[in-house]
Amino acid sequence: MNSTIIFGVLLFTMAIGWLEASIGLSTRTITEKQGRNVVLSCQFERLTDRDRVMWSKNGIVLSVNQEISGDKQKYEIIGKYDLIIKNIVGNDDGHYLCQNFDQRLSMTIILTVLTRPTKPELYQTNETLVEDNLAVFICSTQGGNPSPTYTWLINQIPINGSYFTVSSNTSELRLPLEKRFHNEQLICQVNNKALENPLSTSRTLNIQYKPEINLRHGQTLVTNLNLLVIENDRLTLDCQIQSNPSIIEPIAWLKNGVSMTGINSPSLTLQTIKRSDEGEYTCMTSNSIGRGQASVHIRVQYAPIIRLTGGGVISENKRLVLTCIVDAYPSIDSYEWYKNDEKLNISSLTSSYIIDKISKYDTGIYKCLAKNSLKYSNGSSIEKFDKTQTRVTVEYTPIVTSLTPILALDLFTLNIKLQCDIDSYPESTIIWTYNDRQIFNSNKYSIIKNKTSSYLIIQQLQSNFDYGFYSCNASNKLGKNSTTIQLRSKDIPETPTNVNITSLTYSSISLKWQPGFDGGWPQSYWVSLNNSLWKETNESQYTFINLKHSQTYNIIIRAQNRLGQSQNSASIQAQTKDVPITKEDLPQIEYSTIYYSEKILDYRLNNSSFISLKVPLCLRINIYNHSSICERIVTSSGVIKLDEQYLLNILNVSMCVDQYEDYCGQTRSVETKRELAFNWIFILIASIIIVFFLILLGLCIFCIIQNHKRRRNKNHDIITSSLKKPSPQHPIVIESTHSPHKLFSYSEQQLQSSFSKIAEIQKIDQFKDKQTNRLIVTTTTSTGTNGNFSSSTSGSSDPIISNPNSSSLSGSDQLTVTDFYPISTVTTNPNDLPLPSAQNDLLWSQSQYGSYGFPFYTTTNNMHEIISNKNHTKEDSAESGYSTPSKMNHQSKKTVYEVVV
Ligand SMILES: *[C@@H]1O[C@H](CO)[C@@H](O)[C@H](O)[C@H]1NC(C)=O
Ligand SMILES: *[C@@H]1O[C@H](CO)[C@@H](O)[C@H](O)[C@H]1NC(C)=O
Ligand SMILES: *[C@@H]1O[C@H](CO)[C@@H](O)[C@H](O)[C@H]1NC(C)=O
Ligand SMILES: *[C@@H]1O[C@H](CO)[C@@H](O)[C@H](O)[C@H]1NC(C)=O
Ligand SMILES: *[C@@H]1O[C@H](CO)[C@@H](O)[C@H](O)[C@H]1NC(C)=O
Ligand SMILES: *[C@@H]1O[C@H](CO)[C@@H](O)[C@H](O)[C@H]1NC(C)=O
Ligand SMILES: *[C@@H]1O[C@H](CO)[C@@H](O)[C@H](O)[C@H]1NC(C)=O
Ligand SMILES: *[C@@H]1O[C@H](CO)[C@@H](O)[C@H](O)[C@H]1NC(C)=O
Repeated sequence: MNSTIIFGVLLFTMAIGWLEASIGLSTRTITEKQGRNVVLSCQFERLTDRDRVMWSKNGIVLSVNQEISGDKQKYEIIGKYDLIIKNIVGNDDGHYLCQNFDQRLSMTIILTVLTRPTKPELYQTNETLVEDNLAVFICSTQGGNPSPTYTWLINQIPINGSYFTVSSNTSELRLPLEKRFHNEQLICQVNNKALENPLSTSRTLNIQYKPEINLRHGQTLVTNLNLLVIENDRLTLDCQIQSNPSIIEPIAWLKNGVSMTGINSPSLTLQTIKRSDEGEYTCMTSNSIGRGQASVHIRVQYAPIIRLTGGGVISENKRLVLTCIVDAYPSIDSYEWYKNDEKLNISSLTSSYIIDKISKYDTGIYKCLAKNSLKYSNGSSIEKFDKTQTRVTVEYTPIVTSLTPILALDLFTLNIKLQCDIDSYPESTIIWTYNDRQIFNSNKYSIIKNKTSSYLIIQQLQSNFDYGFYSCNASNKLGKNSTTIQLRSKDIPETPTNVNITSLTYSSISLKWQPGFDGGWPQSYWVSLNNSLWKETNESQYTFINLKHSQTYNIIIRAQNRLGQSQNSASIQAQTKDVPITKEDLPQIEYSTIYYSEKILDYRLNNSSFISLKVPLCLRINIYNHSSICERIVTSSGVIKLDEQYLLNILNVSMCVDQYEDYCGQTRSVETKRELAFNWIFILIASIIIVFFLILLGLCIFCIIQNHKRRRNKNHDIITSSLKKPSPQHPIVIESTHSPHKLFSYSEQQLQSSFSKIAEIQKIDQFKDKQTNRLIVTTTTSTGTNGNFSSSTSGSSDPIISNPNSSSLSGSDQLTVTDFYPISTVTTNPNDLPLPSAQNDLLWSQSQYGSYGFPFYTTTNNMHEIISNKNHTKEDSAESGYSTPSKMNHQSKKTVYEVVV
């Protein structure tokens, strides 16, 4: 032991000696984490292999050359001079000196070892943690170079450094406890440079707090103090409780601070919300820490309930105030007012309806309607309303009127009824007076009264004294009114008054007037123009027409009844309108064309300044046998639609002033146009039909000839006798006196059957004739009025029998079908044989030849002729050979008409 000390002391003194003697070259610092190996390098410039090197730590020799004198585990010399310190720990800190004895050089290396602190320990000083208190936590650790830093975290969030203090090896956290820290992790972290990651310790906080309560309405948390609900809805309030420690008291519900007994469940349900349910609802409970509660004010929304004040009976001219008194939540959005179910036009914000001066017309039923809108919790809203009505009855002074203020009657008239109408509320008492003396019911007078009228009935007008003024007086509590009826003898009418011109045109003056009293007899009026032209009318108005333009006329009116005429009314003047254009300046018609197929008239005016003419114009179309029509035109060219009936009869056109059709420019004839294509098609069809019928006719005639030949050859007599027999069908007998305008009358059936075959041909002929504007086919007979049979056969009354040469059938080779029909345009021929009415009976029957369409007629005494007019159909028949029986058939035809009665 001693030797060691001595050796040490010796070394020490040596070292001191060396130290004193050597030259310090440099000082280095090495910092290294605990556990590593460090190499302390002894490096001199002039160091040679022979030099001796000694390492010492804090004056204690560690080695000399390669010789380790200290802990051989710990130290090692490499490369002769460098010292390795293995697995350094905290106390390896120190000053290490490397000395070269020979050269007396030394070098100092200061080694600092970074050491890790221990894992921190976390203490909680308080036994229980209660919210709102301060809790002290201590975190301590040991060791560590450099000294560790402390960090406190709650739920990974660092706590502000102002809450904790740090001393050498502990940190004290003074944490104000909050409920939100409950179940969170409190972490204490220590760290220094020796650590890769901080060291931490955590602890779960268990913080006690008083119950925290939230109210829920359905799915939503009640955050507002007010909760709007709707009357009659269902409401459920849920009380949600958080508490640590758990509650010790049952849940209590309070309404307006008063406990609702019997409700301890966390959910409060109002099945149907009533208005009385409004109020503040509180859910309350407590635990060992304290008491918790939550409140909500429930506001009940409800539809309006209204009441109407101010109705009833009210006197005229008083002020009416109707007020709608409303109970509603939320408040009313709009009001509506109705009178007798008709909406009144007043602001929707007024809850009062005011009439400053009420009149009898304001009587009625008044209704107030108020609306509000209730909001559901989901945001939608519903409109609600209430209405109520009240009757307003206005009292007013009577108003007495009479429909007949003057009554003109003859003496001794019986049962004269004077009527006055009374409008009053309340009902009036009625007094009739005659010359200011009251009339009572007697055998002369009787007074009848019903709801609105009063009647004075005078038995008889006995003398002139009964003429005079009768008064009907009505009075009620508000006042009185009366009217007077004058009873007088009949007289001439009164003069009409208030004569007024009602309209003026270029050529007419319309006026009306107020009739005066008619004097007891029906009156008419005489209206005069310039005191010369007197016109009578029964109306109280008149229109003079066909006047000249811009002329001034004086008009006088007087009334007339059977007793005479009234005075003339004051004369008034009227001037017809001025035509601002001369006839010469009227636009001229450039062309006017009728298109038959389209039934239009196309026109064009040559005056391009037509538009600038301020005068309304019309195009007058003169129609034969018809008054002209004047079509208002607004463009200088255009078309006018025409009635079919006028188409063929239009004569000419002219430009006139509208509504003054006598003021016209030059007339102009009208061109006519038919469409060619139309005609061609028609002619083609017609030709085909005609050819078809000709073939048919030919065939039939051929057959008949054959038939007849055969029969005649067999027995000619039989045919004659059979033809003499009366027709199996009864002929219709028509006397010409019965129908002078229509000589032939056939039963419809016969007519159809006999004419049907030729109907087509007839049509074609009609058409053909139309083209030449001549209508020769018609089924009505002559226009003769003398009852004569106006045969159109020239000079012959019986062409078939007595004068075959002039007969249309025998005398002509060419027969048209139309030959067998009456002609409309025939003129009465005085040479025609007049048929005595007795003998005039025409027998018409359908023979077997009727099937050809050839009816024939017989008279009782004489076979008469079939109407034919060669004169008229000459040209037609010449060109209508195709519809005529051929010459070959002539022979057979003749035999047909030989039938004689
Ligand atoms: C915890 O302890 C500290 C001091 O020891 C004290 O001031 C504090 O009030 C305590 N807190 C509780 C909740 O007991
Ligand atoms: C820490 O708290 C102090 C005082 O309470 C405050 O002044 C400071 O701003 C806070 N620091 C942080 C980082 O919140
Ligand atoms: C903290 O360090 C001090 C000296 O500074 C010492 O007395 C104490 O024991 C240490 N505490 C712990 C817990 O190590
Ligand atoms: C309602 O009255 C206002 C003025 O008071 C008026 O402008 C409006 O035209 C009236 N409406 C109807 C429908 O009468
Ligand atoms: C809101 O709720 C009411 C009744 O609770 C329902 O009638 C209505 O349709 C709902 N509206 C919407 C938009 O959901
Ligand atoms: C009143 O009576 C008269 C006859 O007496 C009758 O013609 C008239 O219609 C009645 N009026 C009413 C409103 O009843
Ligand atoms: C009766 O009433 C009408 C209408 O109010 C009035 O014009 C007339 O002057 C009144 N007659 C009398 C006699 O009061
Ligand atoms: C009719 O003419 C008369 C005078 O003749 C005049 O007093 C009255 O006001 C006119 N009425 C109208 C509706 O023009």
